[in-house]
Amino acid sequence: MWDPQQYEHFRDARKRPFFELLARVPVAAPGLVADLGCGTGDLTLTLAQRWPGARVSGVDSSEPMIAEALRRPAPERVRFELADLARWQPSAPLDVLVSNAALHWLPDHAALLSRLVGLIAPGGVLAFQVPANFEEPSHRRIDEVRALPRFSPALASVRRGHAESLAFYEAHLARLGLAVDAWETVYLHVLPGEDAVLQWLLGTTLRPVLAALGLGEDQVFLDILRPLLRQDYPAAPHGTPFLFRRRFVVAVRQPSS
Ligand SMILES: C[S@@+](CC[C@H](N)C(=O)[O-])C[C@H]1O[C@@H](n2cnc3c(N)ncnc32)[C@H](O)[C@@H]1O
Repeated sequence: MWDPQQYEHFRDARKRPFFELLARVPVAAPGLVADLGCGTGDLTLTLAQRWPGARVSGVDSSEPMIAEALRRPAPERVRFELADLARWQPSAPLDVLVSNAALHWLPDHAALLSRLVGLIAPGGVLAFQVPANFEEPSHRRIDEVRALPRFSPALASVRRGHAESLAFYEAHLARLGLAVDAWETVYLHVLPGEDAVLQWLLGTTLRPVLAALGLGEDQVFLDILRPLLRQDYPAAPHGTPFLFRRRFVVAVRQPSS
């Protein structure tokens, strides 16, 4: 379902939130670090560079993404695994659990976060970033096309991504005894190329939708979506401006808990 090359297309814009998240992680020398939903693994490797004494696990449920990650030269202490992050278990409690742009694909964030906190050692950190763009024109247009009678039966079981509010994340993690630093950033990307917003969406949001439609129908879907996106995101001579909202959470488990 995932296409590493399409995902890499806007790499710089997608990397920046990862580094802005990691800049707030207050850990000097962790022993065990995990990157859940690690994708192609390039950002996982930066965790190993930042913490030269850490063992680092990159976990992803997509075979093409993990295959791409495994192709990267990596030190022995970095491991990539094909697994569902909702079920994955580390070999020992984690000092840092990072998840960048992945948790929005999973349901029930209260239960999910409770589980992830249970994987962290006392004094350890949970750091995640989720896109929160689901009410923007790009996503509304996808919903509009999804709802057409031609597509809706095939797409009924395809989940839409979701993010909870910052207040929700803070309250839930504080109840679990963590100290929370949470914020939201809206990026104004100026995307190069033709049908740039569609190209961006093809790297992420549209993957499960197109996979469920299958060959042929996926092109019909895109032919309907393309002009709607051109209308909402007209290209300027210097590129296509595209607003993108993201939520960030860095939560520290109390050393005694
Ligand atoms: C938008 S990509 C982000 C990849 C990487 N974290 C980055 O920032 O470049 C989302 C990744 O989450 C993975 N993913 C989605 N649901 C998952 C799950 N239940 N378990 C593990 N990985 C998952 C996808 O396969 C995909 O590689």
